[in-house]
Amino acid sequence: MTHARQHQIQVVAHRGASEEAPEHTLAAYRKAIEDGADALECDVRLTADGHLVCVHDRRVNRTSNGRGAVSALELADLAALDFGSWKNRDEAPDWEQRRPPSWEEQSVLTLERLLELVADAGRRVELAIETKHPTRWAGQVEERLLTLLKRFGLDSPPSAAESPVRVMSFSARSLHRVHLASPALPTVYLLQFVSPRLRDGRLPAGVGIAGPSMRIVRGHPAYIARLKRAGHRVHVWTVNEPDDIDLCVELGVDAIITNRPSAVLHRLGR
Ligand code: G3P
Ligand code: CA
Repeated sequence: MTHARQHQIQVVAHRGASEEAPEHTLAAYRKAIEDGADALECDVRLTADGHLVCVHDRRVNRTSNGRGAVSALELADLAALDFGSWKNRDEAPDWEQRRPPSWEEQSVLTLERLLELVADAGRRVELAIETKHPTRWAGQVEERLLTLLKRFGLDSPPSAAESPVRVMSFSARSLHRVHLASPALPTVYLLQFVSPRLRDGRLPAGVGIAGPSMRIVRGHPAYIARLKRAGHRVHVWTVNEPDDIDLCVELGVDAIITNRPSAVLHRLGR
């Protein structure tokens, strides 16, 4: 299927190519880069000893062979865990034979390692970094994040449009902190529902990009048009089904965040 190309939609690999490989692992991000994804999405949390790691849940129970909250564990504790073998644990009985051996060797991914991977990709690969539970840490997540971005020369892009990195959050406060410290760094306000306060398409001050869920897009297409009329770009999550991809194209969204980057690229005729 091909679509008119006056507007190229960015394809963002959600937690890496996370349908095929264990989310937030090097294997998942390498696969996404190999597949041709334009950008990688990751969630970041602080460990007990102050490292930013890419883990979605508050606890490591679902995605590793360990237990406990990320915030209560040190990086060395996390590094000893297996973050790959949980994937498709309940699939066919011959799974043991089919599992690529590298999956069980997947350890926790630090944001620093992910930044290195992107730097070595050999082509432009953007990074959409989501801050998780930032209120609990009262600014520490954003502070660590900006320090790390600075080390990679990514904290002060010449303009938001040129920045290969953006920061996303459901927390307007987190985005505000990032915007105050690094005004040119693009920020994405994630939306799970259409808040009455923002119904007219406005976003919190300093935020240029809206991140509505696919559920919002399906239920309130007129809201997407309002966001665009208000001058915002629109990045939709998590878009995996052909009909949803087509609706995003029809509405002219700017980025599709997906667990299946290769399928979305194919659908977009790329
Ligand atoms: O990309 C935004 C999306 O990831 C937000 O939801 O729960 O998957 O982090 P979640
Ligand atoms: Ca996320």
